Amino acid sequence: MKEKIWFYALFAGGVALASSLPVLATTAATPAMLSNTCNGCHGTDGNSAGLSNPTIAGLDSNYFDTAMKQFKSGERPSSIMGRLAKGYNDGELKAMADFFAARKFAAARQPFDAGKAGQGKVLHDKNCRMCHADGGKSGANGALAGQWKDYLHVAIAEFLSGNRKGPEMMTKALTKMTEADIEALINYYASQQ
Ligand code: HEC
Ligand code: HEC
Repeated sequence: MKEKIWFYALFAGGVALASSLPVLATTAATPAMLSNTCNGCHGTDGNSAGLSNPTIAGLDSNYFDTAMKQFKSGERPSSIMGRLAKGYNDGELKAMADFFAARKFAAARQPFDAGKAGQGKVLHDKNCRMCHADGGKSGANGALAGQWKDYLHVAIAEFLSGNRKGPEMMTKALTKMTEADIEALINYYASQQ
């Protein structure tokens, strides 16, 4: 009798498991599976091949998560990310943020002007370093050091036009810069390879 009860219990368990398997297979995509959609533009493991697609490996998980939610709501301007972000729920966005935060950032290999980079370092240390530590390497407020120049140009233009919201202190600092200053800053970030 005891054996029989165990048998039924196991059998019922087996049926329950088997019937839940197809459901698991369609709903529980792993972060790695989710991130496959991103590889075409952001490169394998988030290190983009350029030019206006940013590298997203190693970005702080909170920064990443906020960026995706702002793309989704339209608060942050975008060419493509707004439409894409709408396809994911909060749990999936968080899973991808954690996945990419754990990937190793590789600085973009791109040309830069060493003279301008030198001027850019002075400007960065004075105006930007307080929030973008380590020459802009810290991923907490986005990645500046080693990021693609074209992407940085677009990002800075969006802050200056007011379409993308940053801290007031940054908007003020950016507004003070001449076009040549911004060029120098971007060359400084690109020089960190
Ligand atoms: C078709 C190309 C393309 C695909 C696919 C794509 N992205 Fe993007 N991504 C961009 C571009 C371009 C930007 C800059 C914002 C914009 O214009 O949309 C960007 C920006 C971002 C940013 C902001 C980076 C920063 O430094 O602030 C994050 C985060 C991001 N993408 C995550 C993802 C994730 C996660 C996926 C996959 C689900 C993905 N992207 C798929 C092109 C793409
Ligand atoms: C008061 C702090 C602060 C200062 C000063 C500051 N920033 Fe920022 N910066 C931020 C924050 C916070 C973000 C993220 C904004 C967001 O969430 O979209 C950011 C984002 C950026 C981005 C976009 C990064 C990305 O991956 O999309 C660029 C480019 C940038 N800053 C450049 C600069 C430059 C250049 C200076 C100096 C002239 C500067 N910042 C000064 C706080 C600051």
